[in-house]
Amino acid sequence: MKFFIDTANLVDIKKAYKIGVLSGVTTNPSLVAKEGVKFEDRVEEILKEVPEVESVSAEVTPDALTAEEMIAQANELIKINNGDKNITIKLPMTLEGLEACRYLTKKGVKTNVTLIFTVNQALLAARAGATYVSPFLGRLDDISEDGVLLVAKIAELFRIHNMSAQIIAASVRHPDHVTRVAMAGAHIATVPFAVIEQLAKHPLTEQGMDKFAADWKKAVR
Ligand code: E4P
Repeated sequence: MKFFIDTANLVDIKKAYKIGVLSGVTTNPSLVAKEGVKFEDRVEEILKEVPEVESVSAEVTPDALTAEEMIAQANELIKINNGDKNITIKLPMTLEGLEACRYLTKKGVKTNVTLIFTVNQALLAARAGATYVSPFLGRLDDISEDGVLLVAKIAELFRIHNMSAQIIAASVRHPDHVTRVAMAGAHIATVPFAVIEQLAKHPLTEQGMDKFAADWKKAVR
């Protein structure tokens, strides 16, 4: 399973990129709004910061409701990327979003269909040609449903039908989500930087380092 970072914060993106675990970035309107910057400018900055990742998701804005509006926005976003292929257009899981997905896929543009909460939505998005589908597990857990189970079912479905769409486990809230979606067959988990930090840490690692440091002081040199 690969890691994407789920943020529009440049500092966090740089930190994750530097440690070498990053295969992509996902953003959404809420994450961009939090940064207090112009959307297109931030997408451009992110693309420059992470030249070697496979995908940077930029979502069409929530006021683009028709396929035509979404495609028009996608065409502007693609221009920011100077022809590079890693920009990915994130589209909502609506009928209009699917229509835009099919159109963009035929044009060779990567797509990420977002706000997926059922297996059937994932199936439709994959059939519309989505490069990525994003089930939101944390938000399902929030309403007492099982987000990881949804990821497992989608992974099984894609395997049975030999579908090439990659599953991005999204709305990941903690390390246990990461382990469980990896075991469930997600191709990617998109996670905030705080979760990447949590994944790297263990109290016994810290204790072990302290003990090595203390013992090293006593060693003959
Ligand atoms: C994914 O692409 C979304 O940006 C994100 O994971 C949503 O997470 P949230 O439910 O924590 O807002």
